[in-house]
Amino acid sequence: MSQHAVKPTTPSQVPEPRANRWPRPTFDQTLISRPWLNPEALDYAREVLESGWWGAGPVTLDLQKLMEQHYRQEQNALATNSCTSALHLALICAGVGPGDEVIVPSLTYVSTAIGAIYCGAEVVFADVDPDRLVLTAETVERVLSPRTKAIMPMHYAGPANDFGPIRELVAGRGITVVEDAAHAFGSKLDGRMVGSDAEFCCLSFAPTKQIASSSGGILLYKDAARRDEINQRAFLGLAVDTYGRTMAKGVSPVAHVARIGHKYKIDDLAAAVAYGSVEKMADTVAYRAKLVDRYYERLANVSGLQLLPRAANQETSWYIMTIRVADEAIRDRLRAHLADQKIGNTVHYPSLKEQPAFQACRGEIPVTTRESRRLISLPLHEGVPLHEVDRICDVVATFLR
Ligand SMILES: Cc1ncc(COP(=O)(O)O)c(C=O)c1O
Repeated sequence: MSQHAVKPTTPSQVPEPRANRWPRPTFDQTLISRPWLNPEALDYAREVLESGWWGAGPVTLDLQKLMEQHYRQEQNALATNSCTSALHLALICAGVGPGDEVIVPSLTYVSTAIGAIYCGAEVVFADVDPDRLVLTAETVERVLSPRTKAIMPMHYAGPANDFGPIRELVAGRGITVVEDAAHAFGSKLDGRMVGSDAEFCCLSFAPTKQIASSSGGILLYKDAARRDEINQRAFLGLAVDTYGRTMAKGVSPVAHVARIGHKYKIDDLAAAVAYGSVEKMADTVAYRAKLVDRYYERLANVSGLQLLPRAANQETSWYIMTIRVADEAIRDRLRAHLADQKIGNTVHYPSLKEQPAFQACRGEIPVTTRESRRLISLPLHEGVPLHEVDRICDVVATFLR
């Protein structure tokens, strides 16, 4: 261990940041999210910085292998510099281009939809199931058209969903299903990792996420024969990336541009922190599940409040703790009250179709419009102790009484 390593911590004992030369704002509230830096991740990051190789290299390759092991070799992994870039890359691989339509939920982060725009395609919004808040085969079917080229269901809040019925709906029609699992890193359905059956599935290491780094993502892809193509598309179209050329025996090959690509690979520094987070995934998932259990226990009998359903066949890596209240007016008043009580809170998400950049997009989303106005997300991360969950629940219950 390096002499600078911090003392080992367990979740909920996150060390306070040291005073340093870049003063950060101090927060006088329980934050909605906060990354957990485990000591090994810090060691790995230091090792990379001291190694002299900071770009995509050995750590990136190892991170990809680790992810493939987690997926029991049922998926191939490419580590990207964000989930946003992984989603865009998946659409490029699906051949999405001008004139095509891409079906996405409106109850999602802008990243789910933006890749379609980057490809010159049109975004079409499908509605969500009122309980689980995710796309279904029925809601997708309502907006399918001869121009549909891809569908991007998103695993909302963390629970892993079976999007098989969506795949079956479009089988044999040249339509690719790309799962956005940015919320669900580490979640399982029937004992299998989220997105195990997907042609493409994208994960996020964003600092707000449960399995975090400074930035990063994973593109999971089924077809191992596409490995070279996908690696090239993620590294400026170069036949062999910088690390591969440097490691080549003899005279190092010069850059050969095989196709047009993007600069979307992760770097070894971000990959090192991500690697440390993936190694500690079981601890993260368990601690967050404990917090969510407590929230559910304390909020179960509060009237005027709805929780997301939980199913016996799901082992969930929770990203957010979402509640729904009766309507928008109560929601906004409760949000203000929580802020007064120093409880961070937010909305995942205001409907995308109501945003200026997406208003013109086609869609049919009455459930999303209604539900997005009732949502509040409460603090959920390793720095939240159980007694703080109790306090938050008391504040919510007293307000709604
Ligand atoms: C649903 C969803 N998709 C995609 C992303 C993009 O992830 P990243 O920040 O890694 O690009 C996010 C990030 O918050 C997200 O919530």
